Amino acid sequence: MEIKKVCVIGMGTMGSQIGIVCAKGGCETAMVDTSSALVERGMKNIQAFLKGQEKKGKIDQETREKLLSLITAGTDISDAVYNADLVIEAVFEDIEVKKETFKKMDEASRKDTILASNTSTLWIAEIGAATNRPEKCIGTHFLIPAALTPLVEVVRGPVTSDDTHKTIIDFLGKCGKETVTVADSPGFVINRLYLPMINEAFFALETGLASAEEIDRSCTKGLGYPLGPLAAADAFGLDILLACMKTFQRELGDKYRPCPLVVKLVKAGHLGRKTGRGVYDYSK
Ligand SMILES: NC(=O)c1ccc[n+]([C@@H]2O[C@H](COP(=O)([O-])OP(=O)(O)OC[C@H]3O[C@@H](n4cnc5c(N)ncnc54)[C@H](O)[C@@H]3O)[C@@H](O)[C@H]2O)c1
Repeated sequence: MEIKKVCVIGMGTMGSQIGIVCAKGGCETAMVDTSSALVERGMKNIQAFLKGQEKKGKIDQETREKLLSLITAGTDISDAVYNADLVIEAVFEDIEVKKETFKKMDEASRKDTILASNTSTLWIAEIGAATNRPEKCIGTHFLIPAALTPLVEVVRGPVTSDDTHKTIIDFLGKCGKETVTVADSPGFVINRLYLPMINEAFFALETGLASAEEIDRSCTKGLGYPLGPLAAADAFGLDILLACMKTFQRELGDKYRPCPLVVKLVKAGHLGRKTGRGVYDYSK
């Protein structure tokens, strides 16, 4: 099956960007969130991102208008899912919310529709088991910012069919994405490698190996990272880092113990950029 119509559930940080990716692939893209205010916020973010791309000369006006014409948005999940060849879920990283959403996606869509999750750390096996079609469930782990990052991790659940896998690889290729296929496991490959490294940077800071600035500068200037690990943690949220490390520790053992400094900062409400303070102070 060629994917021509996509539905994206959740118009937050990731969903809004994933919607743009689907439109870039030439697909009619129906987007959903839980309230009109959130739909409006999501659409504003999409419009602002595309306008910014036009200002930077990355796309022309005609392309921006064409992409926007492919995107519709609303609050009715049944309406949006109906007729979609592929539904991509990008709701909160909470297993119960994901299972509930997949149940609704399963009930409202055609029997041959593929159901994908953008989960960062949860099992596709568990999410797919909430449906009557686990063989058509798969992980598409887009990376932030999804519209610009070239790679998507494709996660096969234990019973994901070859046909589902191939259709998704073809679809992502059409959207201009490279893919890696990884096994269903906590954090897949990228978060499994990257988050423990960030956690280790907190241990380095806690034990006084170097200042936060020096640790980050070691990675940007020495290793060529676009952002140091501590600044990166502030960007996506220390609460998210802690939740992911806890999942790793629970599922994979104490090697993945969250650094006590991360726990302390989260308890203090210093979650990073979103609260104005994390490792660094953003209040000014
Ligand atoms: N933020 C990142 O850096 C990042 C990177 C890769 C993957 N992810 C994953 O992507 C997913 C979404 O993350 P995010 O950062 O976009 O979260 P977010 O909080 O920015 O957005 C989630 C959106 O989903 C909506 N939502 C919740 N329940 C819904 C429902 N039942 N129906 C419709 N909409 C619903 C919320 O209103 C919200 O707008 C998570 O699984 C996360 O782990 C996040």
